[in-house]
Amino acid sequence: MTIIDGKKLSEIIKTEVAQEVNEIKAKGSKVPHLAAVLVGDDPASQVYVRNKVRSCEDVGFKSTLIRKDANTTEAELLEVVTMLNNDTDIDGFIVQLPLPKHINEERVTLAIDPKKDVDGFHPVNFGRMALGLPSYLPATPFGIMTMLERYGVETAGKNAVVIGRSNIVGTPMAILLSRKGKVGDCTVTLVHSRTKNMPDIVRSADIIVAAIGKPEFVTADMVKDGAVVIDVGINRIDDPTHPKGSRLVGDVAYKEVAPKCSFITPVPGGVGPMTVMSLIMNTLKASRKEIYG
Ligand code: GUN
Repeated sequence: MTIIDGKKLSEIIKTEVAQEVNEIKAKGSKVPHLAAVLVGDDPASQVYVRNKVRSCEDVGFKSTLIRKDANTTEAELLEVVTMLNNDTDIDGFIVQLPLPKHINEERVTLAIDPKKDVDGFHPVNFGRMALGLPSYLPATPFGIMTMLERYGVETAGKNAVVIGRSNIVGTPMAILLSRKGKVGDCTVTLVHSRTKNMPDIVRSADIIVAAIGKPEFVTADMVKDGAVVIDVGINRIDDPTHPKGSRLVGDVAYKEVAPKCSFITPVPGGVGPMTVMSLIMNTLKASRKEIYG
């Protein structure tokens, strides 16, 4: 059994990107520049955005953090988006979600220029992904594809079961695994809350991607011997024996599932660290004008 170490892999990729940024700087070319917009003071969002900005600085990118208070109107936020769309120094930007309830997230996402949409959330990027055209891939599926590629996991002709159908993880993951490509060519089944016989279907999988948001949902009896298990879940559960009174677990019951696997991602230290790396890769692609020319 091989543990896919997302923390280590994300550090390796960051070192590779940092090297590339050094070369860009040595040539006197423009340094990649990511902007992040944070509206309000949701504590989790603050941590995520801080991590993204810090990672940009670690690899030598320029970064800009735009903070707006929770009372910001949708019109004011749309003005910020327009300003970022038109700022030629900024290669890509993200608007951290969730937004305060009075702001329509869909209208804001649609206002982002797809060329600068390094989250890959705009329908143009999602559509291009589904058609197999070059696009910015959403962070979590991109991170998972990178892990499978770098660990040399064979995917062609395998049965993949994706658990969960969210717009940002399950649905794009199912599309990417079914596409032709170095990582891909799987026979994909997407299961969700209304699926019948879920344990039987998951048991048939060579590759399982668990993204359902339920702590330790995938148990050993649902996993075939030798399966590849990718755990996207981050759930905090009570644990009186833990110094903090709680601990993080994934969507997979790691202890009992790991011995049956050929590859497995841990939580924490698996998929999570790869998502920030995806944003960095997308920003690098934006600055190289790799997707849209
Ligand atoms: N909120 C949770 N995940 C994400 C993400 O990947 N991008 C943005 N913009 N907001 C998020």
